[in-house]
Amino acid sequence: MKKIAVLTSGGDAPGMNAAIRAVVRTGIYYDLKVVGVRRGYAGLIEQDFIPLKLGSVADIIQRGGTILLTARCDEFFTEEGRQKAVANLQQEGIEGLVVLGGDGSFRGALEIDKLGIPVIGIPCTIDNDIPCTSATIGFDTVVNTVLDAINKIRDTATSHERVFVIEVMGRRSGFIALKAGLAGGAESIMIPEAPLKVDDIIKNIQRGLKRGKKHSIIVIAEGAADACEVTKEIETKTGLETRLSILGYIQRGGTPTAQDRMLASRMGSEAVQLLLRGQRKKMLALDGDKIRNFDLDWAVNQSKTVSLEDLQLADMLSI
Ligand code: F6P
Repeated sequence: MKKIAVLTSGGDAPGMNAAIRAVVRTGIYYDLKVVGVRRGYAGLIEQDFIPLKLGSVADIIQRGGTILLTARCDEFFTEEGRQKAVANLQQEGIEGLVVLGGDGSFRGALEIDKLGIPVIGIPCTIDNDIPCTSATIGFDTVVNTVLDAINKIRDTATSHERVFVIEVMGRRSGFIALKAGLAGGAESIMIPEAPLKVDDIIKNIQRGLKRGKKHSIIVIAEGAADACEVTKEIETKTGLETRLSILGYIQRGGTPTAQDRMLASRMGSEAVQLLLRGQRKKMLALDGDKIRNFDLDWAVNQSKTVSLEDLQLADMLSI
C-alpha cells in the first residue's frame, strides 16, 4: 500500500482534527502518501483532493471542527455519484480510505468499499449514537460544553428563583442530555428513549420548592419534545417564571477534551494500521480502555441505548 485518503463527513465534532492528524502522521510514519478529501463525499465526486504532509496537521490537535471541511451530499447517494467518487479515488491511486463520521457516513463508506476501495470508519459525532462503541469522538467534549452551560445557568436560575429548560442536541438520541444532565444535577431529564410527562416534571419542581430549592433545571434532548411548548406548559401550570435556553451549535465546537484527543489519536492511528494489515470494511470502537474493530456492515445494523439506570440515578439524586 502506497497511498491512502481521509475525509470527514456529516456533522463536525471536536476531535476530528486530532483524528486527521493521527491518520496523516501514522501514514507518513509508515511511508504512505496521505491525501485529504475536502467537504466529505461532495469532495470525492468533485476531486477536491489535497496532499497532506506532516506540516499540514501541525497545530490542529487542539482545534474543534475539521480542517478538511464537511458537507452533506445527496449526489453521493446515487449510483452514478458513487461510481464517480470511486473512479476519482482510483485515478488518484488511492488504495484505502479512512472515513470520519457517523452512521450515514458509514453507509456511504460501505458503498465505496463495495466498489473496490478498502474503507475504515472512525466514529465521530457529538451524539454518541453509534453502536458497538462506548464513546464517539466529540461526545466527551460536548458533555463538558453542556455541563459548563448548565453551571452558568444555575447561577442566574438561583438569583431569580426561576425554572430553566435547557435544550441540547443529540438528534434522535438522549446520550448528551442524560450524561450532562446527571453530571449537572438537573432536576429532570427528558430523552427520546424514556418519555417523561410534563406533569411529572412539575411534580419534581414542586417537591423541590417544598424543601426550599431556589431553582429547577430541566434538560431536554432535542428529539424528546418541543422545548418551547414544555417551557410554556410549566410556567402556565406552576405560575413560576420559566425560561428556555436552546444551546444550539455551541455544542458542535470548542477545543476537544483530553479524552477526545486521546480517543481520536488512538483511532486515527489504528485505522491506518488496519489498512496496512490488509483489513477493510471495519469500524473502530472503544471497549473499556481498548480500541477494537467490528465489521462495518454488521456494526451499522446494531443498536445502542442509553443507560436507564443512569436516568433512575439522576431522578433519585434530584429529590
Ligand atoms: O449529528 C450531530 C448534530 O449536531 C445533531 O445533534 C443535530 O441534530 C444535527 O447534527 C444538526 O444538523 P445540521 O448541522 O445539519 O443542522
